[in-house]
Amino acid sequence: MKSLAIWTIKGGVGKTSAAVNLAHAAAGDGLRTLLWDLDPQGAASFYLRIPPRGDGDLDAITAKTGDLAELARPTEFDNLAMVPADFAYRHLDLALDAASKPRKRFAGKLAGLAEHYDLVLLDCAPSLSLVSETVIQTVDAILVPVIPSTLSMRTLHQVRAFAAEHGRGAEILPFLSMVDRRKRMHTEIALACLADPAFLTTAIPTASVVEKMGLTRAPVAATLPSQPAARAFAALWREIRDRVGI
Ligand SMILES: Nc1ncnc2c1ncn2[C@@H]1O[C@H](COP(=O)(O)OP(=O)(O)OP(=O)(O)O)[C@@H](O)[C@H]1O
Ligand SMILES: [Mg+2]
Repeated sequence: MKSLAIWTIKGGVGKTSAAVNLAHAAAGDGLRTLLWDLDPQGAASFYLRIPPRGDGDLDAITAKTGDLAELARPTEFDNLAMVPADFAYRHLDLALDAASKPRKRFAGKLAGLAEHYDLVLLDCAPSLSLVSETVIQTVDAILVPVIPSTLSMRTLHQVRAFAAEHGRGAEILPFLSMVDRRKRMHTEIALACLADPAFLTTAIPTASVVEKMGLTRAPVAATLPSQPAARAFAALWREIRDRVGI
């Protein structure tokens, strides 16, 4: 099993949209895929029509007992399951902190999913917290959406610095998100990003079909597979699969 986190400290950059579409693409590739909505906002759960848990206990993540796999729910798509968000995740930092070895505990819980899934994708909240620190110390790779803007680039530097100091060597895979080719600045910054060999080369365009996921409540490829955004998510998935060796 491989684990990927979609994480950056910048909000609203397309993490959840990418998480849902990439998980759908991975499942379509035949991988038993679990999308874990780790953000109490519950946007990924909303998109996949899985009701978030109200205010559950966090034992499945932080206690010795409790099985994370039992929280997984099937989605309407083959091979794609989801652990929905839980409003109690707002307390996850405290609960992890109270565990004796939080990273080991979290890693053990994630490893327990391996008998059921080939891939786990974690949609993370945009925060610097014990949760995000633990996640980046545990997963195989971290996907970082970057809007081609100066502030997003600055955030990528911060993410890399944080991971260098607190991570354990997980590969950081930035990719361009919400690219608007009509904007000269987007084009220029996108070109500069793609000169960095760490960047995935597929860019996700700004597209109304992605915004409309709030209405369709489905991955773009499930409703409009020939749209450029759907094809971009599929290409991004193939690139991630090859880079991570899935
Ligand atoms: N490629 C895209 N084209 C157009 N709109 C997009 C695209 N990706 C995301 N959006 C829109 O931008 C907003 C934020 O997207 P999303 O929720 O995926 O970001 P996020 O990084 O997960 O946000 P948060 O930090 O709040 O978790 C949403 O309204 C979404 O529809
Ligand atoms: Mg999100």
